[in-house]
Amino acid sequence: MTDTAGTGALPVEGVPAARVLDEIRALRAADRPTHGGRLFAYVYDPGVAGLDELAQAAHAESAHVNGLDPTAFPSLLAMENALVGAAARLLGGGPGTSAPDVVGSVTSGGTESLILAVKAARDARPDLTEPRIVVPVSGHAAFAKAAHYLRVALDPVPVDPVTLRPAVADVAAAIRPETVLVVASAPSYAHGVVDPVAEIAAVAAAAGVRCHVDACFGGWTLPWLRRLGAPVPPFDFTVPGVTSISVDLHKYAYAPKGVSVLLHRDAGLRAPQFFAYADWPGYTMVNPVIASTRSGGPIAAAYATLRHLGEDGYLRLAEVTRDAVAGLADAVRVVDGLRLLAEPESTVVCFTADDPELDLFVLVDELTARGWHTQPQLAYAGLPASVHLTVTAAVAPRVAEFGPALAEAAAAARAAGPVVLPPELLALAGSLTPEALTPDLIAGLAAGLGLGAGAAPDRMAAVNTLLQAAPVRLRERLLVEFVGLLQRPTW
Ligand SMILES: Cc1ncc(COP(=O)(O)O)c(C=O)c1O
Repeated sequence: MTDTAGTGALPVEGVPAARVLDEIRALRAADRPTHGGRLFAYVYDPGVAGLDELAQAAHAESAHVNGLDPTAFPSLLAMENALVGAAARLLGGGPGTSAPDVVGSVTSGGTESLILAVKAARDARPDLTEPRIVVPVSGHAAFAKAAHYLRVALDPVPVDPVTLRPAVADVAAAIRPETVLVVASAPSYAHGVVDPVAEIAAVAAAAGVRCHVDACFGGWTLPWLRRLGAPVPPFDFTVPGVTSISVDLHKYAYAPKGVSVLLHRDAGLRAPQFFAYADWPGYTMVNPVIASTRSGGPIAAAYATLRHLGEDGYLRLAEVTRDAVAGLADAVRVVDGLRLLAEPESTVVCFTADDPELDLFVLVDELTARGWHTQPQLAYAGLPASVHLTVTAAVAPRVAEFGPALAEAAAAARAAGPVVLPPELLALAGSLTPEALTPDLIAGLAAGLGLGAGAAPDRMAAVNTLLQAAPVRLRERLLVEFVGLLQRPTW
């Protein structure tokens, strides 16, 4: 049968609207489920009836509004200022607090917020030719990306293998005269533990250096968990020395993707984040954030979400999530050979395997086969491989089913046994340098692992085992090459 419209994005003749939507729905059928509480990464689902429809309607209202010029679209400026105000108030800033002059910007996501925090810190010190940032290894990879993009040196600080936190003395020792920023996480994404923010901010302040708290993940949950009685240590603007905080609204504020807030303690600290340019014949340009043209859609959707849920709504969702975390942690505790890597103190459950017969990567595949999508984390710098669960409110009704599924998947993983890669492949992974990788070698590796062009295999244990066997730089190069194989145009 000839399909005159073809399957490409630009057919010769336009395709009717209903059919286009059907096509998208058909493509979406291959995706992991964004709703329903069975996907423990990438998505944040409150499971609140009607919220999606509200956010979609708000998104549609402002989708064509351009954040490039706040004077042309005051609606967007008003909503951005309201989001920044709400985030600041939740995080210890605003009128009547010890941080009354907090200002901020709405960005497209956590990574953009972190890049801008680093840029602001770097550009506040134009006297330095080789600026540096101090980041615990548990800090989000986006700091490394910021360092890479902005040509800032990264000074990593190890974390204790038991507490999964950096020692404050190590942070202090890493600060040099060229350090422009010190980072703490509240909490870390990988393990969900909150760094000793007060102590880290104190050593940064003593050295006259900015301190950024990455609360992208936890900034919209920790305050509610504290109100519910959890022993959340101070991590926000109530802590002297904290100069900036990031919080992602597209995570636990449950807004659709594309919204984070970067807060600074005052406007002077924020100023070097901006970029203005008048040395060309076009419009006068001033960009608070990285993007220039920005859709108002995500901002309006976030505004609608916050207003609709309100403090009461978030408190209820946090309570439900807290209980789900406790239930999932219990489910892990009762499976022989599994161990929580950290006692949950936020909304992450992270576990490892102590038994060599129970291969975590196989377990992850077995869970996937049963409709539970978890996130494997490779062994790194003395920390064992682990499985990460981002827990959101929509998980709560699923907790009772997760326990038996985990036990069953663990039994299946034991029965299947650990992944065994050919010894020569493992030896190669352990000894190759990134420079020695040739296109033929990469193609051979990819084919051997089932990584075809345009599609990832159902089972990822072999890929993860190979990556884990490789040194960090080789891991990075392999990841780039493998994803490069997936990103190929369709004609
Ligand atoms: C602590 C933390 N920081 C930064 C980020 C990056 O956020 P994004 O994926 O929105 O760029 C994440 C994402 O999970 C995170 O958990």
